[in-house]
Amino acid sequence: MDELPEPDAEARRASKELNARLLAWIAGDGGWIGFDRFMAGALYEPGLGYYTGGSRRFGRDGDFVTAPEISPLFGACVAGQCARWFETLGVRRIVEFGAGTGQLAAQVLNGLARDGITDVDYRIVELSAPLRQVQRHTLEALAPDLAPCVSWLESLPERIEAVVIGNELIDAMPVRLFRLDDGMVLERGVGAAVDAPEALPDAPFASPFRFVDRPADPDFARRVLETLATSGWAQGDEPLSAWGSGYQSEFAEQGPAWLASVGERMVRGVVLLFDYGFPASEYYHPQRNGGTLACHYRHRVHHDPLILAGLQDLTAHVDFSALARAAADVGLDCIGFGSQGSFLLGAGLLEHLARSAEPGSTAYLRQAQAVGRLVSEAEMGELFKAIAFARGGDFDAAAFERSDRRGVLIR
Ligand SMILES: C[S@@+](CC[C@H](N)C(=O)[O-])C[C@H]1O[C@@H](n2cnc3c(N)ncnc32)[C@H](O)[C@@H]1O
Repeated sequence: MDELPEPDAEARRASKELNARLLAWIAGDGGWIGFDRFMAGALYEPGLGYYTGGSRRFGRDGDFVTAPEISPLFGACVAGQCARWFETLGVRRIVEFGAGTGQLAAQVLNGLARDGITDVDYRIVELSAPLRQVQRHTLEALAPDLAPCVSWLESLPERIEAVVIGNELIDAMPVRLFRLDDGMVLERGVGAAVDAPEALPDAPFASPFRFVDRPADPDFARRVLETLATSGWAQGDEPLSAWGSGYQSEFAEQGPAWLASVGERMVRGVVLLFDYGFPASEYYHPQRNGGTLACHYRHRVHHDPLILAGLQDLTAHVDFSALARAAADVGLDCIGFGSQGSFLLGAGLLEHLARSAEPGSTAYLRQAQAVGRLVSEAEMGELFKAIAFARGGDFDAAAFERSDRRGVLIR
C-alpha cells in the first residue's frame, strides 16, 4: 500500500477516533456488523465520516472529480432540460439531493437565468452539515444574485412536485456485500482484527478490521438470489451455477429504497440521475466476480475499504435495473436510460460549448477538453449513465433519443 500518500497527523487522529467508534459498534453487535453499517459510519458518522469530517473532498485538491467540477457545461445541459420539464410541470422547482460542493446548483441556476428564468425554487437535501456550508459559499461566489432562490431541507419533502436531480448520489449510498460459497449465500460483514481499541495500530495503512463472512439470513439470501436472477445469467434448475464459489458482489438496498421514497411522494415531476454503473446483466455478469466496490483516496483508486476510515471515499457502482424495478413498483415511468455522453450531446452540450467562449480562445479550448472528458467513451461518457423517471405528465425525453437503452434494464 506504500503508493498511497500518507495522511497528516490530524487526519490520522480523526481516523483513529472513527476506528474506535466502529470497533465499539462491532463489539456492541456481538462481533459483526454488516458492510452497509460500516460504510455508513466511514462515510457519514457526524464529524468523522468521509463526507461529514469537514476537509476538502472533491476537485483537484481532493480525492476525485465529478462532472460539475469538470465543466459548467454539464450544469448548462441539466438547466436546459429542467427548463423544458418546468413547462410540463407548471412550477419551477428543483430538489437536488447530495449537492456536494454546490457547483451543479450554481451552474443550473446560472443556466436557467441565461434563458430568462430567475424565479426558481431550488431546494437541496444534503446529509453532510459541512457540505451544506460549502454549498452556501459556492452559491454566493458563483451565483450571488440567484443564491436567495436556494433553501436546504432536513429531509425528504412529504409531497414532491419538482424536478429531482442527483449526480453521483446513489454510488455514495451504503451497500451490503455477499459472497457465494458452494451454493450458499454468505453475507460479508466486518469484524475486529484487534482485541481492544487501545491496540489500534498507528500505521495509517494497517486496519483494525477484517472481513467476516457468515451465512446470510433467509430474507437476504432470497433477495440476493432474486437479484442475480434479474441479470439473466442463471441457468437451469441450479440458481447459482453460473457464478460459482467465491463470486462476490454488492447488493444495493439504499439506492432503490431512496428512489421508492421519492416516487411515493412525487405527485408530478421527473427524477434525473447521473452515476456510474450498469444494468443487472452487466453488473452481475459471472466474470465480474469481485464486485465494483472501490476506494478513492487522493486521486488513486484501490480496493481495501477497511483502511483509512473516514479519509477515503467508498463507493459502489449503481445497479440501474434495481433502480428501475424500485421505480416501477411505485408507479414511476422510466422515460430514458443511456450513457451520460449521449444524454449530454442530446441535451445540447456542443451548442453550449459553442456559446461558452470565443472559438480558438484558451477558455474555449479548456472547455472543449472538458467536454471530451464528459463524453469520451474512454473517460466518463460510457461508464456513467443518465436515467430519468417521471410521473404525472408527458415529460420530454428527447435528450435520450440518441441511445435509449431502457430495454436492457428489466428483462
Ligand atoms: C459523490 S458525492 C457527489 C456530490 C455532487 N453531487 C457532485 O456531483 O459533485 C455524494 C453526495 O451525496 C450526499 N448524499 C449521500 N447520500 C445522501 C442522501 N441520502 N441524501 C442526501 N444527500 C446524500 C453526500 O453527502 C455527497 O454530498
